[in-house]
Amino acid sequence: MEKGSLLYEGKAKRIYATDDPDIVWIHYKNSATAFNGEKKADIAGKGVLNNKISSLLFSKLAERGIQSHFIKQLSDEEQLVKKVDIIPLEVVVRNVIAGSLSKRLGREEGEEMPSPVIEFYYKDDALGDPLINDDHIDYLGVATSEERREIRDMALQVNSVLQTIFNEAGVILVDFKLEFGKDREGQILLGDEVSPDTCRLWDAETRQKLDKDVFRRGIGSLTEVYAIILERLGGTAHV
Ligand code: C5P
Repeated sequence: MEKGSLLYEGKAKRIYATDDPDIVWIHYKNSATAFNGEKKADIAGKGVLNNKISSLLFSKLAERGIQSHFIKQLSDEEQLVKKVDIIPLEVVVRNVIAGSLSKRLGREEGEEMPSPVIEFYYKDDALGDPLINDDHIDYLGVATSEERREIRDMALQVNSVLQTIFNEAGVILVDFKLEFGKDREGQILLGDEVSPDTCRLWDAETRQKLDKDVFRRGIGSLTEVYAIILERLGGTAHV
């Protein structure tokens, strides 16, 4: 497989074409951003950690029947994935109150919810990714009602698989964000990444934050806590 020209550069990844029109080459960058790009830093080792964690989680999800764009890990910072048209929705699944939900509902961070809560945000940087409901999705034509239901079901399945994986690793899966895309045949696949950049992960005993909140709130070393997650999942942070 040949790496081709740069197709797109996002906040955390660069996407390159390959000699196969249905496959793209992803490079995980070292940049960390928060608050819609207002806080930025370059953190050596971050790309490797996120690539390894995301590759490992996509593989574990595939073993449990969840189809994603992931094909294989190529190197420390690179993956091959199926090319998909990203559906402009950020799908957030929450098990425990935290972050923006804590602010929105005025509830204490850490309160467990009896069943998972799903939220849809419209993926649009200029609008600041607003929270939207099913009617807004229909109105915007972002997804059909059938696709919306499929995405919701897939997000709940991902949640139940990830909860089992993290539970076995002594980690609480507080919440996370998923993105979905459609392949050439119109099949909906899980896309983007699943990593401590996109999940809130707390140590089950100490409740230590092991995710991007460490960077957002300036309360520790991002690479140290991401390495803990990778090792708890059975990977190796240092070669
Ligand atoms: O900020 P908020 O509480 O809404 O975030 C919910 C979850 O979604 C968190 O795990 C956060 O890391 C993730 N998220 C993300 N990308 C965004 C917004 C939220 O990965 N643009």
